[in-house]
Amino acid sequence: MKFQDAVEEIINRLSIVDVVSEYVTLKRQGSNYVGLCPFHNEKTGSFMVSEGKKIYKCFGCGKGGNAITFLKDYLNISYREAVITLAKKANIEIEDDYSSSKQYKEIEEKKKKLYELHKDVANAYYKVLYSDKGKEGLAYLRNRKLSDATIKKFGLGFAPNEYGYMYNLMKEKGYDDVLLFESKLFRLYNDKPIDAFYNRVMFPLVDIYKHVIGFQSRTLDPNAKEQKYVNSLDSIIFHKKSFLYAMNYAYYSKENYYILCEGNMDAITMHQAGFDNAVASMGTAFNENQMFLLKRKPKKVYLCQDTDDAGVKAIINSNKILKSAGIETYVLDLNPVKDADEFINKYGAEAFRKKSNDPIPTLLFIVSSLKKKYKLEDPYEQEKYINEIVTLLADIDNSFVRDNYLKKVAIQENLDTGRLTNLVNKYLKGNTIKVDKELFKRTSEAENEKNELMHAEKSKIDSSFIYLIFLLKDYRDKIKSEVSTDELINEDYRYIYSLYLEGLDISDIYTKLEELDDAKKNRITEIINQNYNYDEENTEKLIESINLIIRQIKIRRAKAESNDSLDSIYELNNKILEINKKKYI
Ligand code: UTP
Ligand code: MN
Repeated sequence: MKFQDAVEEIINRLSIVDVVSEYVTLKRQGSNYVGLCPFHNEKTGSFMVSEGKKIYKCFGCGKGGNAITFLKDYLNISYREAVITLAKKANIEIEDDYSSSKQYKEIEEKKKKLYELHKDVANAYYKVLYSDKGKEGLAYLRNRKLSDATIKKFGLGFAPNEYGYMYNLMKEKGYDDVLLFESKLFRLYNDKPIDAFYNRVMFPLVDIYKHVIGFQSRTLDPNAKEQKYVNSLDSIIFHKKSFLYAMNYAYYSKENYYILCEGNMDAITMHQAGFDNAVASMGTAFNENQMFLLKRKPKKVYLCQDTDDAGVKAIINSNKILKSAGIETYVLDLNPVKDADEFINKYGAEAFRKKSNDPIPTLLFIVSSLKKKYKLEDPYEQEKYINEIVTLLADIDNSFVRDNYLKKVAIQENLDTGRLTNLVNKYLKGNTIKVDKELFKRTSEAENEKNELMHAEKSKIDSSFIYLIFLLKDYRDKIKSEVSTDELINEDYRYIYSLYLEGLDISDIYTKLEELDDAKKNRITEIINQNYNYDEENTEKLIESINLIIRQIKIRRAKAESNDSLDSIYELNNKILEINKKKYI
């Protein structure tokens, strides 16, 4: 049957309810079926399937179509693939199906051979790395703190400093010239076949089906004149623009987000540090094709590009592409270092884990980067800066989310919430906006909110501290040497802590309460009666928890001692990372 006829026949022959209910639970409702829409998040079913009309339609998000488009959208496959899949289900043979044509079969055959060749080449480079010829390469990778297990996991290798080493090896293995040249791994030089890569560390590029489809190579020489990284040229199995490095692992990760970085070394270091969800765009500006790779299993994306200006642009650009595909993004800000590889090697995996537990909403990151883009002493630039903020906020469709971000932006940028709201509303109505200098005064409302927030956080630290120390009485001396009384935020906490340091227990404190006036008695009772969900039997866990709290107390002090100057922020960042690395108890 011809392709077009098959399309019609599929729709006629197959029950759309059957097709859809393989993926969505449907319930009968009158002559239709209803379920939860798989294309958007909902709690009540607005997704309707009609057997009679052979269509589905969601009244929530508007998506609709027939069995073929359902499968295409649900599985994120091409129209053609959806037709072929359903044709099988309907027992229809598509005669002129391209996939049974001679040309198609020839290409598939060639691809298979190229996969084989690439695998052999990758294995051979890996072997060289651990041989005499690869010593320098291995030393380089060790110096970059990669373990043997990581080298193996990513199949890293070394191309020796010989022009035809791999060519000769593959010839010996029986590969013919046509295939060898088609792979782009070899070329002619003065009519002699040579390897495309020599004297370089080799990174096999692997797709999600585990085929090696190309290589990236790196020079060992930090002052080399040639390009630092050189990739395989595009071939029938490799398209650089549609590739994400490490996706062969990240695709199968159980984490509910991807981490997107620029360099393959960043991705590898992250995997080694336990982040199996990291992928790298390998320097190219993140593009739509790569977005589709991520969208095959839609998850949040944490943007983790370099901290230079190009990296900030990359964040803005990839955010645009991902947002338009409905993918939520956050930012992991690596300042003060350049990239994830440097970050992890300098501050450790734990510090990176902390960062990833608390990613920055991309909008807030972009807004904070505007201060670098505009010279805010200049009123014209100030106007542009505000315009950009207003546009970014107005761009948020959901008004609840917009208001929420607006408040956060106002606090972050020291702007007047009310005036900023007016500007955004004006802009949304299509009016031109005018910036006046009152906007640059943070409202007392924002100020209060910020203070309250900070206060709540602070006192949580202190009350947890008080709670934990009485569970760790054997550690009194150690705790004493790490936290002094005056580091607690108010007199009540300080009072209780001083009694603890004198050796008193909770029960002793209850007797002491009688000496206090009523107000203080109530406050202290409240503090010592607080209950936290710590496992009191598990000393190890308790120690872990008190370490966390002590770190926060130390960070709080470091923050209080720093100011807004860049040097001071830089120093603060370093201090925080130092604090986070240590165990105190
Ligand atoms: P970077 O220059 O940021 O390199 O390029 P990097 O990741 O920090 O690499 P190391 O740490 O020096 O080894 C980021 C990515 O851009 C691509 C590579 O994929 C690299 O990982 N790139 C870079 C190239 O393709 N060619 C180049 O000459 C440089
Ligand atoms: Mn790097």
